[in-house]
Amino acid sequence: MQSNGYMTGFGNEFASEALADTLPVGRNSPQRVAHGLYAEQLSGTAFTAPRGHNFRSWLYRIRPAAVHGAFTPFAQPRFHNDFDETPVTPEQLRWSPLPLPQAPADFVEGMFTMAGNGSPAAQVGVGIHLYAADRDMRGRYFYDADAELLIVPQQGRLRIATELGVLEVEPQQIAVIPRGVRFRVELPDGPSRGYVCENFGALLRLPDLGPIGANGLANPRDFETPCAAYEDIEGDFELIAKFQGRLWRADIGHSPLDVVGWHGNYAPYRYDLRRFNTIGSISYDHPDPSIFLVLTSPSDTPGVGNMDFVIFPPRWLVAQDTFRPPWFHRNIASEFMGLIHGAYDAKAEGFVPGGASLHNCMTGHGPDAATFEKASSADLSKPDVIVDSMAFMFETRAVIRPVRQALEAAHRQRDYTGCWAGLEKRFSPPR
Ligand SMILES: [Fe+2]
Repeated sequence: MQSNGYMTGFGNEFASEALADTLPVGRNSPQRVAHGLYAEQLSGTAFTAPRGHNFRSWLYRIRPAAVHGAFTPFAQPRFHNDFDETPVTPEQLRWSPLPLPQAPADFVEGMFTMAGNGSPAAQVGVGIHLYAADRDMRGRYFYDADAELLIVPQQGRLRIATELGVLEVEPQQIAVIPRGVRFRVELPDGPSRGYVCENFGALLRLPDLGPIGANGLANPRDFETPCAAYEDIEGDFELIAKFQGRLWRADIGHSPLDVVGWHGNYAPYRYDLRRFNTIGSISYDHPDPSIFLVLTSPSDTPGVGNMDFVIFPPRWLVAQDTFRPPWFHRNIASEFMGLIHGAYDAKAEGFVPGGASLHNCMTGHGPDAATFEKASSADLSKPDVIVDSMAFMFETRAVIRPVRQALEAAHRQRDYTGCWAGLEKRFSPPR
């Protein structure tokens, strides 16, 4: 189904052409493609992956992707995958928002690596970055050969023109750009900021729902993939590639966004987090936050994610005889959190939109002292409602290793652990 320049559904076999009669019928690579176009396959999974997890698209384009100059290193040292630069601390970590750029920066120039694990070479793990940018990518195109990109805007809309069509996303929407897809980012609102998860592992997919049933959490019909759109322009342009943790550049004499028609299931998409159908307890206690799972990148161990993308959206809290904010906990998983909008219910202050926190494997964390006091004496005879808030988590199987520039950043909150200092001894055994 096609509407407003987007096709709906998750991982469907889509077909779209910006020019009538572009897509061949009955074969993928006919001897001659219509309109003088070239046929090119883009594979995102192994050729022999099981059918349900096999993703590829056929692109019909003005020039093949192979047409560009030689690659040379591109200097942007703030964007990398060197996660072993420094020993990883078990300390709870938190950051204020990444400052907006002092000198003009586009989306690629404005990327700032925070942390990560695994590696692009192993095709396991994640890279976690923030971006702060204030100008469009002009005459510059980018692709990430290392990872699928999950982009979470926090301030300002993004117009992401990709090979397969144009995605427009605003804060509280997300965009997913498959590994290898070339794109350019424009900033309709000027200075913009957000979070990016590079997923080196298996492609993000919707989780199974188990006893929840056939509906709920993120519904497939709310995912939107752009219809084909192409640029037929020539000039002195630049193609930036991220390959094995480093950036490279090549001259390119035309826009690589020249795909006139395409079909397949390997394509970018967007999703509005406000459409998430939140599930929760209506009796007592907290279900685990797996009920807030939007998308998961599975690992090679069943039930264990390489990366889980989890959100904490508006919802009713009705559980009785229950401490309603998230309780104190330590997990085997590691948690990188961000806040897109509003306030987060487990922290009274310090965790603001655009900020971030990192609680690694077995590091104790939970509500701060002020939140504990308030929630311990809250009136549970009435429901409570969280409105106008959107926090999220990149949760990973492996420890998330902050990089040096994140640990040394001026916007790191070095006094973060103090938020639990007011949790005093309350133990009073009967005498
Ligand atoms: Fe946590």
